[in-house]
Amino acid sequence: GKTVAITGVASGIGRRTAELAAQMGADVIGIDRNPPAQAVGDFIRGDLSSAQGVQALAQALPDGIDALLNIAGVSGNTGAAPTLAINFYGLRALSQAAAPRMRPGGAIVSVASIAGYGWRGNLDRARALVAAEGFPDTARLADDLGVPDEAGYPVSKEALILWTQIAAFQPAFRDRGIRVNSVSPGPVETPILTQFREVLGEARVNSDVTRVGRAGTPGDIAPVVLFLASDGARWINGANIAADGGLEASVNAETM
Ligand code: NAI
Repeated sequence: GKTVAITGVASGIGRRTAELAAQMGADVIGIDRNPPAQAVGDFIRGDLSSAQGVQALAQALPDGIDALLNIAGVSGNTGAAPTLAINFYGLRALSQAAAPRMRPGGAIVSVASIAGYGWRGNLDRARALVAAEGFPDTARLADDLGVPDEAGYPVSKEALILWTQIAAFQPAFRDRGIRVNSVSPGPVETPILTQFREVLGEARVNSDVTRVGRAGTPGDIAPVVLFLASDGARWINGANIAADGGLEASVNAETM
């Protein structure tokens, strides 16, 4: 079987992905800042919000993992600085630290969001976020780039979607045959969605849900993440796959 490291395993999409990976015969190494109620495989407790936290996590990872699934994330309700740190710089730093020790032919899959699709319209800002190397001071960066607290979440996902495309062709990944892709869910029924209802308003979330008939479930997203990590996706690289019940298409169809 393959060895798969998964962040965010204590809840929601990460938990479901870990369960499904284990059912499919993978050796799972779960990562989260909170301990899961029921561990699947091995568990490493750690925090993606700082350079030191990521370094400790990377050191705890064994050599030879086949896939790194970056699923951990926060809603943005604690402000732009921690959100940019966790949702983008933490997973990028972990990916960069893990890649040299991953098995050639491996895969990195990150969970972005349809909230990140604004990257084309905000290309300069997305570029500046990706251009900031290592683990920048995200409070200062948010100030410099004009990212208000309520925009931290979409902007973190914009950076993630742009970086995914860039990273796919960076030597650190490409020369080892490591593919880099992302999955963008629409609203999915997990604890984060409760926070989105508070931040964005019930009406906004409900209108998205009504458009596609129901909210997604973690079980709608986990197979897509695992597919991108599998050999069946060997010709998919630098891509962002929507798993949103058609929400994005429906919005585009109306506005184009
Ligand atoms: P969740 O809140 O159920 O799970 C997130 C997990 O990430 C938690 O277990 C949490 O402890 C962990 N985590 C948060 N900060 C961390 C840190 N600094 N270090 C280590 N672990 C940390 O949320 P859900 O829905 O499962 O979210 C998973 C991913 O899916 C996130 O990246 C989120 O942005 C994304 N997403 C979720 C959507 C939804 O509607 N649920 C929609 C679009 C994207």
